[in-house]
Amino acid sequence: MSYKTEKDVNIVKPLASNPVIIVTTLNSEGEHNAAAFNSYMNIGSTIIISFHPECHTFKNIIESKEFVVHVPSLDEMESIMVVSRNHRDGVDKFKSAKLTLEPSLKVKPYTIVDYPASIECRFKWTQEEGEYNLLAAEILACKCDDAFLNPKGRFDQVKAGVLHIVRFPDPIYIVAEHYIQGIEEMR
Ligand SMILES: Cc1cc2nc3c(=O)[nH]c(=O)nc-3n(C[C@H](O)[C@H](O)[C@H](O)COP(=O)(O)O)c2cc1C
Repeated sequence: MSYKTEKDVNIVKPLASNPVIIVTTLNSEGEHNAAAFNSYMNIGSTIIISFHPECHTFKNIIESKEFVVHVPSLDEMESIMVVSRNHRDGVDKFKSAKLTLEPSLKVKPYTIVDYPASIECRFKWTQEEGEYNLLAAEILACKCDDAFLNPKGRFDQVKAGVLHIVRFPDPIYIVAEHYIQGIEEMR
C-alpha cells in the first residue's frame, strides 16, 4: 500500500529513467483497465507513448481522452506481471493482481493505490508511425508517496527498484539498483 499525495511533477520527475509504467484507462462501459508500457518519452509536461493500435488502452484513451500513468516499485513485481499478461476481454485485472483503485485528482480513470507514483494525463494528439500509433498527452497532476522521495523531493528510482524491460517481447527486466555520480551538473 502506498500513501500518495499531490506533488509537482517537475520536481518529483517519476519518469526520469523511463521505467516500465502501468497505465489505467476507462472503456466506454465505464470499466477500468490497466496494462504495462515502456515505449514512451516525457518532455516537460508532455508524455508521448507508442501504442499498438489494437491495444485496449489506446482505444480507451481515444474514446475517453484521459488516463493515469503509474510507476510501480519492485515490491509489486507480482502485480506488474499479472497486469502485463494478455487478458481476455472481461477479465478483472485488478482483482487478479490484487490491486486497489482510488479516485484520481483531475481525471476519471482511477489511480492504483499500491504503486508509489502516478501521473494524470489528458489526450492531446495521435499520429501513425509505422505499425504503431504515437499518442501525446498533457500531464495534469502527479501524486507520489513521500517514502519514495529523496531529500531534494525527487522520486527515488533505486529505492523503488523501478523496472526496465530489456529484451521485449521476452520478459527479461533489469532493476534500478544503485546510483553512479557523474562528473558535473548538466544544464
Ligand atoms: C513491460 C512491458 C512493456 C510494454 N510496452 C508496450 C508499449 O510500449 N507499447 C505497446 O503497444 N505495448 C506494450 N506492451 C504490451 C501491452 O502491455 C500488451 O499488449 C497489453 O496486453 C495491452 O493491454 P490492453 O489491451 O489492455 O491495453 C508492453 C508489455 C510489457 C509487459
